Parts: sequence; structure tokens; C-alpha cells
Amino acid sequence: MSEIIEGKSYVFLSPSKIIFGMGAAKSVGDEVKRLGGSKVLIVTDSILLKADVIRPVVESLETAGIPHVIYDGVEPDPPTELVDEATDKYRKERCDLVVGIGGASSLDVAKGVSVVATNSEKVMDVCGFEQATKRAAPKILLSTTHTAGGELSPYVIMHMSREDHSLMPIVSEYAIPEVAIMDPLLTVSMPPSVTLETGLDSLVTAIEALVAANANPFSDVFAEPAIKMGTEYLPVAWAKGSNLTARYFMCLTATFSGIAFVASSVGAVHALSYAIGSAYHLSHGRSLAVLLPHVMKFNLPGNPSRYARVAALMGKSIEGLSLMEAAQLAVEGAKEILQTLGVSTRLRDYGASEGDLPRLADETMETIGFFGYNPRDLDEEKIRGIYQAAY
Ligand SMILES: [Fe+2]
Repeated sequence: MSEIIEGKSYVFLSPSKIIFGMGAAKSVGDEVKRLGGSKVLIVTDSILLKADVIRPVVESLETAGIPHVIYDGVEPDPPTELVDEATDKYRKERCDLVVGIGGASSLDVAKGVSVVATNSEKVMDVCGFEQATKRAAPKILLSTTHTAGGELSPYVIMHMSREDHSLMPIVSEYAIPEVAIMDPLLTVSMPPSVTLETGLDSLVTAIEALVAANANPFSDVFAEPAIKMGTEYLPVAWAKGSNLTARYFMCLTATFSGIAFVASSVGAVHALSYAIGSAYHLSHGRSLAVLLPHVMKFNLPGNPSRYARVAALMGKSIEGLSLMEAAQLAVEGAKEILQTLGVSTRLRDYGASEGDLPRLADETMETIGFFGYNPRDLDEEKIRGIYQAAY
């Protein structure tokens, strides 16, 4: 903790209002009224629209007498053009408030629309770090998955285009919504594969937030319970999707993990995941899971006391052990949960060949600057070593 005391300050960001609980989605209409919205653009994807998952939101707006139009063109790994398309609709329909409902992609597009709507002609003008200079259009975000904090973070993750998968993010405090709503009932219909992969994102993110070099009392207070709850309830939510207790605690895991990483950061698991995600068409959560035990093993010497805490939070008994022995148990904890969930941590099982590894390391080097708070320093050789261990 000495680095905290010795002269860094920390920033804690969150929406001004988070509404959490069963049936919380019904409060959307009242929240729109309170924010002064008169016409809403709902941003979502066509699968959720067809499955009627957004019904509580639509009904709540109707009860409150708020007209709305729907943009349902969101795709996974959204290319920037979707934000421009949805913003065109927002402008043409003369909307004044955005409601995003869905997984991380829908929430990213909704955040993107709100920032672009008041700042620029096209999304490319506001991509990058704090490029937006004006307050965004007001927005309310509802997550329907267990992904870490898409509904409350200042990050908008987009890809350049459908063909060019390079990351094109917006980082802006204006992307944080006025209201984030987490209603576990919206997550019940998620299939096991999506439950698994989004839940893994939250668990991995909470671990990375706790061990990061800039972890601090504000992030710890959310990261610790997120690791505990995620370890306990992810297998249950995956195995029995209708278990409302598991859904409730996985939603809490997602929210806490999101707050934790915004206050702290993510590290090498995230950094190395993007190259394998696009090379082998793996979801974000699965790419993280494949790398998790290998990165943890590599990172251990950089912050053994924090990894020992991770082990304890994952239910391991660390009493009487040396610090390194205790830290090592965190790696075992990660392996165990992934084994329970049937997730292979071998790149070869996803179609990788050994000859791919230098290219993966090379690609990762392009964005490694964003992950400077990883508990252990990285260079190309070390990154290649982690991919080799994961191969
Ligand atoms: Fe993530």
C-alpha cells in the first residue's frame, strides 16, 4: 500500500445513480421523465428485440407516456459505422435521450451515440482519450448479461470496421450514463454459453483490478466481493440459468467488477486477449479465460501478497503458507473453476498453431501501452512466453 500513500491520487468514477434489483427495469420511464427526456432512442440488438427481452423497458416508457424509436442494428464487436448509423436515427427522429439495453456491444453503441450526438458529425472525431468536449446526450443503460460494468464505465469499445478489427475506443467521462440499471430478471434468458463467457469477463476483471499496480482502497472495496461472489455463483448461474439467487449475485459481481476496474485497471489478461480473440474467433470472455492461469502464473512475483488475497477470496485456505505458496493457490483456484466450467486453457484447442505465436505477440505489442498497470512489466519476449505457456 506504500505506493498509495506516497503521492498518487485516485479517481473514483461512477454513474450518479445505480438502480439494482429484481424488476429494476420498470423504473426506466420514471427516470427518463426525471432527466427531462421527451423522446427516447432505444439501442439494442435484433436477437433481444425478437426474444422480447426489452419488453419491461418498452412497457415502462409507455406507462410514463414517453414516445420511443428502436435501433436494433447492434452486432457483436461493433464496428464504428454502427454508432454513426444509430446517431443518424437519433437525429432524424429528434430524440433527446438514449436508452441502451443489451450486452456490452449494445451498451457501447448507446454510449457512442450519446457522445457523438452532442459533440461531432461522425464517431471518428471523438475516438481516443477524452476527445469529447461537451456533455453527452443523457442516457440510461441496462445490462442483460454478466459482463463487467459496460453499463457504468467511461469506455466505448469499437472496431474500426467489419473488415479491419483494430480497436477504436472512445474513453470519455461523458460516456458514463446518468443512470445504470441492473435488473437480474433481464439476465435469466441468457443461454449457458453467454452466461459463462460474460460471467468470466467479470471474474477475470475483478482479479485484474485487485492485483493491478494502481489498485487502491476505492477499487479494492468492490473487487474483493466480486471475486468471492463470481467464484461461488458463476458455476451455478451457468449450470442452472433459472436460479435467481445465482443471477442476482452474478449481476452484483458484474456491477462491482465494473466499478473496480474503472477505479483501478485491467492488465495482461485483457492485453493479450484481443489478439487471440480475433485470430480464433473467440468471445471476449473466453479469450480472457484461456489466458487467465498462464498470466496469473507469470504475474505472481510482481504482487504475491495480492495474489494470496485472490486465493483466499476464491475459497483457498492460505493459513500457515508462505506468501508465494499462498499466491500460487490463486492460480490453482483459477484452473479449478475453469475446469468445472469446461473451458480449455490451451490455445491449440481453439485452432492455434505454434507458428502463430510471434504474430500474436507482435499484435499485442501495438496496444500494450494501455496496460501499464499490469503487476509485472511486459515486453515482446515475455508476451511470447505467455502465449507459449498457453499453447
Ligand atoms: Fe473485459
